Amino acid sequence: MVTVVKHPLIQVKLAIMRDEKTKSKEFRESLDEIASLMCYEVFKDIGTHEIEEEYNTPTGVKLKKVKLDHKIVLAPILRAGIGMVDGVRNMIPTARIGHIGMYRDEETLVPHEYYFKLPKVENPLVVVVDPMLATGGSAIAAISAIKKRGYNNIRLMCLVGCPEGVEAVSKAYPDVDIYLASIDSHLNENGYIIPGLGDAGDRIFGTK
Ligand code: PRP
Ligand code: URA
Repeated sequence: MVTVVKHPLIQVKLAIMRDEKTKSKEFRESLDEIASLMCYEVFKDIGTHEIEEEYNTPTGVKLKKVKLDHKIVLAPILRAGIGMVDGVRNMIPTARIGHIGMYRDEETLVPHEYYFKLPKVENPLVVVVDPMLATGGSAIAAISAIKKRGYNNIRLMCLVGCPEGVEAVSKAYPDVDIYLASIDSHLNENGYIIPGLGDAGDRIFGTK
């Protein structure tokens, strides 16, 4: 399943991120806020249950505490995925965080894994986060590495994608639901999303 989250608040913030004049601080803040807003859609069906522990309301009624049905593990693809972690964690403070170090070779566009660590959690929902879904190579490699460790309940949360990347991930892993704020027109010859927003990692970390 592919879901494009077209909420007006997200689209306004995404336009700010696409603007080449937007500086790193505002770029990061907008990404953070969009990540929070997207949680509404990404987690809307995960379910909740009551636990035995109770609390008192100001009206004198006792209610049972409520928990999410799944433990959430966030798996940002480094570096740019880091820019979405706080936005999600603000909504789900109990989420545990893994790290997937991956970079795309600039010539071949093939992803190379340089680091992998996920928290040990029983039966979690693992949400891979990365602002950009271009060829789909990085997301596919990340999902494959996660599955190899025995985790099979996986979602992919991106900001901007393109038809090539969405198709590649959907074909490789039809069981992984994909959430994006936009599916842009296409990839250019250098593997950049058009119109996209440039190099997300460089804009987040100010490396260019
Ligand atoms: C970017 C982006 C994704 C990847 C997408 O990372 O953050 O991880 O490219 O491209 P793909 O879908 O074609 O694999 P990059 O490799 O530039 O690393 P960085 O975040 O460290 O800059
Ligand atoms: N990675 C980015 O940061 N931007 C793109 O457009 C494609 C890959």
